[in-house]
Amino acid sequence: MQDLHAAAYRILLGNVRRGRAPKGSGLKEYVYTCPARGVYHHQWLWDSCFHAFVMARFDGEVAKAELRTLLAAARPHGLVPHVIPWDANSRSGLRGWLARWLYDRSHFANLTQPPVLALALEEVYARTGDVAFLREVLPATKRHYEHLARERDPDADGLLSIISPLESGMDHSPTFDAVLALGRISALDYHMANLRLTTLHAMAGWQSERIFARDRFSVEDVAFNCIYALGLRSLAALCREAGDPEGPVFLRRAEETERAIVMRCYDPQTKLFYSLHSLRDVPLPVATVGSLMPLVLPTLPQEMARALVERHLLREDGFWLPYPVPSVAADQPQFTPTSHALHRRAGLGEWLRNRFARHHLIWRGSTWVNTNWFLARGLRLHGYDDVADALAAATVELVRRSGFWEYYQPFTGEGQGAEDFGWSTLVVDMADEVSPARLERALALRRRPLVPEPTFAPAPTMRLQLE
Ligand code: GLC
Repeated sequence: MQDLHAAAYRILLGNVRRGRAPKGSGLKEYVYTCPARGVYHHQWLWDSCFHAFVMARFDGEVAKAELRTLLAAARPHGLVPHVIPWDANSRSGLRGWLARWLYDRSHFANLTQPPVLALALEEVYARTGDVAFLREVLPATKRHYEHLARERDPDADGLLSIISPLESGMDHSPTFDAVLALGRISALDYHMANLRLTTLHAMAGWQSERIFARDRFSVEDVAFNCIYALGLRSLAALCREAGDPEGPVFLRRAEETERAIVMRCYDPQTKLFYSLHSLRDVPLPVATVGSLMPLVLPTLPQEMARALVERHLLREDGFWLPYPVPSVAADQPQFTPTSHALHRRAGLGEWLRNRFARHHLIWRGSTWVNTNWFLARGLRLHGYDDVADALAAATVELVRRSGFWEYYQPFTGEGQGAEDFGWSTLVVDMADEVSPARLERALALRRRPLVPEPTFAPAPTMRLQLE
């Protein structure tokens, strides 16, 4: 596995960005790992957390600097934002002032992404044992979670609401098609829908109370809430380590969110979890990788875990494709396994064609390493070690054969999207969770011919009741 680790370290190091931080940020130098050079060059919230998580095993100082930089960008009310364009925001003079003015009003600064933050901090702390660092960054980390609890749970049911598909981190997931009322679905439609939402939210001054009062896009997203609950548990553990008495508060919140996921998002008929839309809690019944995410919850009842794994995850015409786990189950009408590459060496014409004409839609069927990483953790938690080994082996094989891509075609394993993509290095953590002998066995079990892409008859889906 050493080759895989060395390659992962190389990818992360190649994506590290440093520069002089703007005045007032509390930093001398910013240090972060961009998701992919030439494609995504800013600091992205959940990418950055995944990068710090993996980097912690190679270079604790860089991992700490990554989280410090991320937290230095927290908004005055505590929220850590979706994207931070450090280079533009660090400029001096009129251009710098203008960049910061625009940034403060943009969706980059006012949206967020799944709260992986405390998980990353827990790992960085576990690997470095640096209590001084923990005490330094814990207050800002807590403020982020406090902000979410205070501002994003308008019906006080323990489930947070996201206000844009971009906050899910799964930007074009078909879960949101119905909420956005998209007739035709292309990347351009999604861009326009996001733009409309951003304009509406900006007109509401980005104030959550006014945004929720309009109830235009308010989704209790399953994956976002599962990650939130995990984060709260990490936060509780970190408080204990730092001698902070607030740990039990976060633990209680985690349990409350977990209970709400189980009680409100589970559909006993299909035995899957669905996100809920609007204050009226309308289910969004599309079988996506998010529907399986409650596997990461330690309090998930065993019979629900069994249904998720045995009835859904392992179904070969659903989620268990040659390179699992696709972001949308293959029997869903929205399933789209191929998405054209956003190659950084492409010229402008090719880039525009990919972006608009070729429907560069993501999260509609491709396989992503970060969701596999979460699921493998969940599988081990519920005693499905063999399945977790098989998933780890499939992911290792993907990366060995194709490299570190943003996402992969689930039938062929072809890398797609951006190349040299940071969070795909999570594969090393998946590999480290299993002994070399078990991983080799799981890899050997995979040596079978690749199947051609079949055509599936779409399964009937539950009817939406948006009205
Ligand atoms: C895409 C993904 C998002 C990620 C970003 C940067 O937009 O959907 O989750 O954070 O790329 O990698």
